[in-house]
Amino acid sequence: MAEPLKIGVLASGNGSNLQAIIDRIEAGGIRAQIACVITNNADAFALERAKRHGIPALFLDHRLFASREEYDAALVEKLRGHGVRLVLLAGFMRIITPVLLNAFPLSIMNIHPALLPAFPGLHAQRQALQYGVKVSGCTVHFVDEGTDTGPIIMQAAVAVLDDDTEETLASRIRREEHRIYPEAVRLFVENSLKVVGRRVTITDDTVSTRS
Ligand code: GRF
Repeated sequence: MAEPLKIGVLASGNGSNLQAIIDRIEAGGIRAQIACVITNNADAFALERAKRHGIPALFLDHRLFASREEYDAALVEKLRGHGVRLVLLAGFMRIITPVLLNAFPLSIMNIHPALLPAFPGLHAQRQALQYGVKVSGCTVHFVDEGTDTGPIIMQAAVAVLDDDTEETLASRIRREEHRIYPEAVRLFVENSLKVVGRRVTITDDTVSTRS
């Protein structure tokens, strides 16, 4: 049998999406291995989560690099050194450059807490509340050179309630993030994603986008 596909996760904070993916792998739901977790924040709880699961965890301080490109080159070196084939951005608070993108073509995913193309960038839940939408959600997409603009892999919708605050909406969206991000990873690992231009189709009968 082939070796499990190696995944590298880049995170800056809590790492709850990292945890959801670790849990799904450990439960046998994804034939993959998280080969390394890299953060640009020494205090990221994602580092602790990785250590608890025996995953190599590394803090790479972007302030030590003269440019975004040099930082990304260091990321590429570390990721390649761990044999990574799929890179997951999981709350990674940095704009990435073509140095990283070109090293992993159509092999970098991100999760965004809105139904793209609505509300890209920071504070997506706040943007949704301020706009007054009745439905928001989350999006897993391949990363391209824009901010939250790459081909969409999966989305899940949640209702926006009249009494929602940024926190309550974020927490309802997060539950869906933890469901669809591991699912999108599984589809990639099983080679079930077909990308034609902006459109990603799923060649897997077992997938359901419903809760
Ligand atoms: C999530 O809301 C994700 O959509 C966004 O950053 C947040 C990361 O949360 N990209 P966590 O670190 O995975 O808990």
